[in-house]
Amino acid sequence: VNVVQPDLLLLHGRLVTPPPGGAPLGEAVPLMEVAEAAVAVKKGRIAAVGPTPEVLARVTVGVETRLLDLEGRAVLPGFVDPHTHLVWAGDRIDEMAMRRAGRTYLEILAAGGGILASVRALRAASDDELLASLLARLRHVVRHGTTTVEVKSGYGLSEADELRSLEVVAQAARKTGLALVPTLLGAHAWPPETPRADYLEALDRMAEAAAAKGLARFVDVFLEEGVFSAEEAERVLRGGLAAGLRPKVHADEIAPSRGAETAARLGAVSADHLTKATDEGLAALAAAGTVAVLLPGTSFFLGLPPFPAERARRHRLVAAVATDANPGSSPTLSMPMAMALLVHAGGFTPEEALLMATANAARAIGEENAAGSLAEGMRADIVVLDARDWRALVYHFGTNLVHTVVAGGRILVQNGNDTEAMAEWRHS
Ligand code: NIG
Ligand code: FE
Repeated sequence: VNVVQPDLLLLHGRLVTPPPGGAPLGEAVPLMEVAEAAVAVKKGRIAAVGPTPEVLARVTVGVETRLLDLEGRAVLPGFVDPHTHLVWAGDRIDEMAMRRAGRTYLEILAAGGGILASVRALRAASDDELLASLLARLRHVVRHGTTTVEVKSGYGLSEADELRSLEVVAQAARKTGLALVPTLLGAHAWPPETPRADYLEALDRMAEAAAAKGLARFVDVFLEEGVFSAEEAERVLRGGLAAGLRPKVHADEIAPSRGAETAARLGAVSADHLTKATDEGLAALAAAGTVAVLLPGTSFFLGLPPFPAERARRHRLVAAVATDANPGSSPTLSMPMAMALLVHAGGFTPEEALLMATANAARAIGEENAAGSLAEGMRADIVVLDARDWRALVYHFGTNLVHTVVAGGRILVQNGNDTEAMAEWRHS
């Protein structure tokens, strides 16, 4: 018989998980719930999961097995954040006041602030400074239960600074052991010092270099009125595709810009934002199987209406949620906060929010076979809440209820505190 001796055995949890692979909205949310559950972890993967007696029948507790009694707490898959801009320098706290005084996000960008202010800050920062600030942010990310993170470049806007940003992500992945999924977003804004035609060519070279060095899996573009047009975006994404990078698109965030239509036509893995997408665009996404990544933190922080649940259901979107963590439009690092905004501002159910933050989010970054579900063979990415009812996660909005975090089989948070494994991330 196949008896496993686990490295880690979590006992007596209340388990809630979607199946691997995700599902569209607009139908019953496929969540499995087990009131008395165990999870066995071996070599960073889930070896067995389910009702405690069934798991115990399949494993042998050895001297090497670390036991964690969850005492009836809720246990969920680690959250997957499929859209972040975590490599940045400085902050844009002053822009909050400018926007409150009536200036818009795109006006601030057009005046050389916004993304361009972050570009100046990143170019002036050393690699060591970028890595140290990225590691500091990742600690907050993990403390809020996220174990898989997509990270975009996009504040370099030159070949050297975009590739340097992606190198920093690779270094952080090595240092932390976290599942970081890198995306090249050289087309985040137009660099003021470079003619547009030259920059379009530079973007092709960046895609080739990033792909050749294994520094990016996806290519992304800010397709928006006044930033990259649909035609320019298509050209950038085709350059990425030619280099082997799958497209993602910042689509229809502020004005309808044919973002969703372009993403669907190019077979993008995801189209993100979408608050101003047309019905035709959303229908095209559903037909293409492109994941719709919703960013309610951005709507909240910019004072814009959120994407409503009813639209996601009506179009049967495979919808996911992300923080969009960035210094300008969504500085939160918390997936539970994004989930709470989905529920309380967007009208989604807690069950939909959980699906969108786990299995569907994994699908948005091509990680559906490794993350987003507590199932045998998946990466051992596990969150335990300091609550018996998992819905407390969105009920106590703005409160960090994360009790324990396991990422790739390693315990990074326990009893709400960083473990030694996470404390070691400090950049020396
Ligand atoms: O997804 N929309 C473009 N990019 C980011 C904002 C980046 C920034 O403002 O620094 C976003 O919202
Ligand atoms: Fe973004």
